[in-house]
Amino acid sequence: MDILRIRGGLKLRGAIDVSGSKNAALPILCAGLLTNDTVTLRRVPKLRDIDNLLRILAELGVVSDRRADGSLFVKTESESNSVASYELVSTMRGSFTVLGPMLAKRRSARVSLPGGCVIGVRPVDLHLKGLRALGAEIRLEDGYVVAGAPRGLRGARVFLGAAAGSTVLGTANILMAATLAKGTTVIESAACEPEVEDLCRCLVSMGARIEGIGSPTLVIHGVDELHGATHEVIPDRIEAGTYILAGLLAGSEVEVRNCRPEHMGALFDRLADAGANFKLNDKSVACFGMHPLRATDVTTYPHPGFPTDLQAQWMTAMSIADGVSMITERIFQDRYLHAAELMRMGAQIRRDGPCCIVRGVSQLSGAPVMASDLRASAALVVAGLVAKGETIVRRVYHIDRGYEEIEKKLSAIGADIRRETEHAVTGVEAAVES
Ligand code: EPU
Repeated sequence: MDILRIRGGLKLRGAIDVSGSKNAALPILCAGLLTNDTVTLRRVPKLRDIDNLLRILAELGVVSDRRADGSLFVKTESESNSVASYELVSTMRGSFTVLGPMLAKRRSARVSLPGGCVIGVRPVDLHLKGLRALGAEIRLEDGYVVAGAPRGLRGARVFLGAAAGSTVLGTANILMAATLAKGTTVIESAACEPEVEDLCRCLVSMGARIEGIGSPTLVIHGVDELHGATHEVIPDRIEAGTYILAGLLAGSEVEVRNCRPEHMGALFDRLADAGANFKLNDKSVACFGMHPLRATDVTTYPHPGFPTDLQAQWMTAMSIADGVSMITERIFQDRYLHAAELMRMGAQIRRDGPCCIVRGVSQLSGAPVMASDLRASAALVVAGLVAKGETIVRRVYHIDRGYEEIEKKLSAIGADIRRETEHAVTGVEAAVES
């Protein structure tokens, strides 16, 4: 297993390019199940989650290949297997969005329930409610969702609101199913995340008829079939946000390029309150390192609110901010495993239910830390960059799920960050792993 070894305290300087969005690419790849034509995608990041999804799609009869120009194509060659197994689906939740497209196109599907994960329980009741509203017969059997619509799906009104807002992957599932349903579907309280908007745009280029794109009310007029298309995936706003925070905390002058600042309004609002020095351009953000930032409260909300996927990285920033701040997690209330690891680096954090109170300290100190999930690992890497001394981030496979070549990108702007294999770690650290 790999680790990242970081020597903190170096000033970052230069430009860093953002990859395509993981969370946009995952459901868009599943949209390939809706047609027998070729769907060509540009800017699909090279990530562990993408590889895992391609493995699941391959089992479902979808061939894929990356071409020399970096584009990725997917094409359904066979529809004989519609079972997505527990072994593969449990590795990543994004794969549950094979359900809607398979049900719409093949009229039946058997997909493993994804189960919970370290950031919380993560139910799929809204996905199932929406598909049932479209006429699917659904039962749960041996941990699998067994869904059928022998006469095809029918358009309907579906309300997808939950206690914490809408559901991103639930909206993707119902949206894809509705594209081939008979008649019109109205999704109320649809997720407005840029990743859902990107999926809509890809579906439209495949021949889907969708109104209200980007809004909480999506109107989908079902069509008989979809066709192939070429689509470029949007830049990853969470990767961009992570590097913006790294640039502001550890940089002198860092330009985060090839991103879409209009997708990150809530982050810039909080950064402005924190006194950060940055400049927004059309497709890049210039970050002028200056710390300490002012302690600034954050509450996570669905888009356009502050994203839960940046909460951990914000906590790193607040750990060395001037003053006391409160972070409130409204989407996944248990998404705080990184707090204990940051405290091992000297951060002062007290958890109180869905909130964490962070008292800024003048300096973090390097330590061996354990990544618990994707965004927690990113927070620990950023902490390692600003900490005094050496930080070893273990269980780096989490970060490989969502950050393309992170150590290469950060090294290029002056960070001392190296990937090593497990045996390079001392016996004591290795024992913690088991
Ligand atoms: N929820 C329900 N019922 C459902 C579905 C969701 O109650 O049927 C609740 C959840 O428990 C949560 C809230 O609704 O409280 C929002 O969850 P959502 O369904 O929107 O999350 P998701 O679609 O499973 C995606 C991203 C996550 C990101 C969330 C929120 C992908 C592959 N995953 O998950 O990304 O945190 O939206 O924005 O797109 C990550 O990339 O690290 C990550 C976890």
